[in-house]
Amino acid sequence: NEIYANGLKNIKPSISFHPLEWEAQAKEVLPADSFGYVWGSAGLRETDDNNRAAFRKWAILPSRLVKSGFPNLKTTLFGEEYNYPIAIAPVGVQRIFHPDAEIAAATAARKQAVTYTLSSASSTSIEDVAKANDSGSRWFQLYWPSNKHHDITASLLQRAKAAGYKVLVVTLDTYILGWRPSDLCNAFNPFLRPDNIGVELGFTDPVFRRQFRERHHKEVEEDMGTAAAEWARTIFPGTSHSWEDLQLLRKHWDGPIVLKGIQTVQDAQRAVKAGMQGIVVSNHGGRQQDGGIGSLDVLPEIAEATKDKLEIIFDSGVRSGADIAKALALGAKMILIGRPYVYGLAIGGEAGVSHVLRSLLGDLELTLHLAGIPSVSPEVLNDSVLRRIAS
Ligand code: FNR
Repeated sequence: NEIYANGLKNIKPSISFHPLEWEAQAKEVLPADSFGYVWGSAGLRETDDNNRAAFRKWAILPSRLVKSGFPNLKTTLFGEEYNYPIAIAPVGVQRIFHPDAEIAAATAARKQAVTYTLSSASSTSIEDVAKANDSGSRWFQLYWPSNKHHDITASLLQRAKAAGYKVLVVTLDTYILGWRPSDLCNAFNPFLRPDNIGVELGFTDPVFRRQFRERHHKEVEEDMGTAAAEWARTIFPGTSHSWEDLQLLRKHWDGPIVLKGIQTVQDAQRAVKAGMQGIVVSNHGGRQQDGGIGSLDVLPEIAEATKDKLEIIFDSGVRSGADIAKALALGAKMILIGRPYVYGLAIGGEAGVSHVLRSLLGDLELTLHLAGIPSVSPEVLNDSVLRRIAS
């Protein structure tokens, strides 16, 4: 209504309402290497393509003469009620997309009442993001340092807890960065560039700072290049942890722990066995491993096997209200939005992120309303509203 009322006064929105055009608008304003970093996927982009193709295999069947108002979008996870079934996915180094970086995105998330997930590759500190998001809902994502740096892991978790982050999201698919031709062609690794991104989250960590001082006999600020490279090696250690290691995290985090990057039933069941509270069915938006399956393609079997035992969150390839509805219907309770909000951040800072969130939520609301689906609760929004139309 607000948008069409403005149209009567000849005021047209400056940011597109077509989700696929956000990418093109971001490309216009970003330097080529920053754009390549957000757009980039692994290898031939097959996983990324499969993420999108997976949504087109399902169609929403509408029910008519359902007398209901606008749908109730509230969802419950870990015993808490969330206003909306979408959250901001963790995305690192936001300073390469906009000078206001994570502060802009975390402020927009607070204003739109959407949960913000802070990345451990953030270019803003845990505490500063918490300040911008004070009354908001926030989760903390861990890129998990190797066991020899367990004191740094413990420090990050303790800081996140003290700053009001409620859920720990542990990313399992990124112990080393994927083969991304766009970044290789631009010779661009943002984590090695303290000048434009700061990787402040690491630089502000007291344990990392102390150890740097002991190793080099100088402060982080006196050799930002070396500090950036060491922080990058800390959070991307090059080798994976084991399932047993998860118990180390439990000692430092008493809230819900969610494993991000799950793509098989077997791993989802291992997460249950390891006592985890949730999983993110995700392939990192196809950025890590090429030749992979669409994330939505594996969601139904994983949900079927484990949704009564832990909370299922989903991401990779979500671009519209219908996409969100399909992932919810196939068993997820919360959907993480990745590239779309980063494009919004690039285009318009805080206002751009707000625009993308409001746009996706408006689209979701009308999609459900017009399909006669009164709420996102799993009793109502489940696979009975979908038909599989392609294999
Ligand atoms: C990411 N992603 C990511 N994930 C994570 O756990 N920690 C991180 O720091 C980052 N950083 C990051 C940077 C950029 C530029 C992108 C695009 C993505 C992955 C992200 O959380 C999410 O899994 C995907 O973005 C979901 O796929 P779509 O929505 O982008 O297709």
